[in-house]
Amino acid sequence: MRPLILIGAGGHGSVLLDVIRLTGRTLHGVSAQETPAGPAWAGLPFLGPNEALFDLDPDDFELVNGVGSVGSMRRRADLFRWFKARGFVFATLVHPAAVLGSRVILREGAQIMAGCVLQPDVMIGANSIVNTRASVDHTCRIGAHVHLAPGVTLSGDVVVEDEVHVGVGATVLQGRRLGAGCVVGAGAVVTRDVPPGVTVVGVPARPLPAKGTGHD
Ligand SMILES: CC(C)(COP(=O)(O)OP(=O)(O)OC[C@H]1O[C@@H](n2cnc3c(N)ncnc32)[C@H](O)[C@@H]1OP(=O)(O)O)[C@@H](O)C(=O)NCCC(=O)NCCS
Repeated sequence: MRPLILIGAGGHGSVLLDVIRLTGRTLHGVSAQETPAGPAWAGLPFLGPNEALFDLDPDDFELVNGVGSVGSMRRRADLFRWFKARGFVFATLVHPAAVLGSRVILREGAQIMAGCVLQPDVMIGANSIVNTRASVDHTCRIGAHVHLAPGVTLSGDVVVEDEVHVGVGATVLQGRRLGAGCVVGAGAVVTRDVPPGVTVVGVPARPLPAKGTGHD
């Protein structure tokens, strides 16, 4: 397998470093806008900002998208598309302590973190994160550039369209659809389909009014 280059040296990147080590992959180096500081990064080869990767042959490496998200998926998605357009391939990573059921499909660059459970016939789209201890039940279809944050629970047959963020600890009832670009707030319980681009919060989940409109 080709050596890996991790792009991004923040919190999500530090978690990915562990997955890389535990899966026995070779890390060629870390790319970030600034030299990473802190114990997670000590001693690792720093390759410079993303522009420094221009001179590399895309066939020699696989990339790891270390950009996380707490809401909008745009930055992470843009980075993926940008490097794909230049011929690079993103590694699909699965923490050894994740449980994957039969016929689970992981698209390019999917990242499955520690303690996740993916039940049979789940599909995880390109560049999506299934974060720590998230649970995705049978036949869920997850689009591209999605973040299922730590502790998310999706019941069976849930459809998550592209660029959705499901906040930490949220729960989605069976068969519901989360429209493209929507955000589910931390701890929400989604009982109805969520339209594209809408942010919902609470139990049961309801749209969060746009800022400045007031919501008393
Ligand atoms: C839903 C969310 C995206 C809204 O973010 P935001 O637009 O910056 O919203 P604000 O923090 O300005 O809050 C706006 C209002 O919504 C409320 N609110 C925000 N998030 C909420 C949530 N998850 N549940 C219930 N209410 C929430 C706030 O209390 C505030 O209400 P107020 O105006 O009455 O005080 C965000 O709060 C959230 O839950 N993000 C998910 C974080 C996450 O998953 N992190 C994991 C990283 S690995």
